[in-house]
Amino acid sequence: MTDIHFDKEKGSQLKLFTPGPVHVPERVLKEMAKPNDTHRSKPYSEMHQLVAEGLQKLLYTKNECLIFTSSATGIMEACVRNLVKEDEKGLFFSIGAFGDRWYEIGVTNGKNSVKEGVEWGNPITPEFAQEALNKDKYAVVFIQANETSTGVYNPIDEVAPIIKDSGALLCIDATSSMAGVKIEVDKLGIDVCLASVQKCFALPPGLAVCSISDAAVEKAEQVKNRGLYFDFIGLKKRHVAKYQTPTTPPIPQIRGLTAQLEYILNVEGLEKRFERHEQLGKHTRKWTEDLNLEMFPEKGYESNTVSTIKNSLDLDIPKMVSLLLEKGYRIVNGYGQLVNKTFRIGHMGEIQIKDLEKMLKVLADIISDLK
Ligand SMILES: Cc1ncc(COP(=O)(O)O)c(C=O)c1O
Repeated sequence: MTDIHFDKEKGSQLKLFTPGPVHVPERVLKEMAKPNDTHRSKPYSEMHQLVAEGLQKLLYTKNECLIFTSSATGIMEACVRNLVKEDEKGLFFSIGAFGDRWYEIGVTNGKNSVKEGVEWGNPITPEFAQEALNKDKYAVVFIQANETSTGVYNPIDEVAPIIKDSGALLCIDATSSMAGVKIEVDKLGIDVCLASVQKCFALPPGLAVCSISDAAVEKAEQVKNRGLYFDFIGLKKRHVAKYQTPTTPPIPQIRGLTAQLEYILNVEGLEKRFERHEQLGKHTRKWTEDLNLEMFPEKGYESNTVSTIKNSLDLDIPKMVSLLLEKGYRIVNGYGQLVNKTFRIGHMGEIQIKDLEKMLKVLADIISDLK
């Protein structure tokens, strides 16, 4: 294993079918290895601008798109600190581990936080959302698009208008779906739509991005104790004035993201990319059914970027994962309370159907031996 990972010439030779970090194509790695000017230079600003404009296209928005030197959790915390005032309440919809994490961020930042959750495997339906919103007045609502622990995709297109009707600001964690699933930010009125780049963008970890509405910026101006590193106002000011970040960003990552956005928008094309992810999801679900396994999510809400599969055959999952590793592929066990009860196959980023087919065939043989 160590030999595979620390190959001095080539780096890790494992093929990742994980829910992030994911496989990074050679062309992106090469792009990231190129030299750069400093983050206060004109060439950097040009690169930053390309990222911002590319993200606007990807997210169907005119809102500014900001760059954060952190993983997605950093922007989740920024949303809480920047948007909820002392005398206000935030509502956290949770359908799994990452929804629970956002609520915990609310609580640990001393914000008045309310969690409304459903049994894992289920989505937040429009009815559930409406009922929760009727209970109280919420200033900000936080919700996942794709919940990576359960493999459920919330019906965001139906739930977002209900949240907006309540008058709350809407923050969406699109960490494991942005750049793989269509999210129309302006049409849905999303105030902050965030993600890190080690998932559907197929970049190494270390960078996160979000769109931010004028309403969210205006709100942040009224909120005290926003902190410094993740202050929306400071980030937006520097972004608008100079296409820069207030502190030193991971410039190679931003170079890689520039190249990836160019590829996504102008080589593969958005519609084709979303369609490919849909096919990857469908293909994995068909394979699951053929093996007499069951999907963990409620039917109709399965994610197209990560499949969470029930361990209905009572397989030794750690053994299955390690046997697959010996063949050069990595998938992962269930997350949190779903360890050994489920396992997860990531199919996002630059994974092609033929790559998935090859891996699933090997995995099917392993499962048949383990049964
Ligand atoms: C839905 C979701 N939200 C948030 C996170 C946290 O992301 P990061 O590790 O980039 O902070 C993840 C990571 O897997 C995720 O899948």
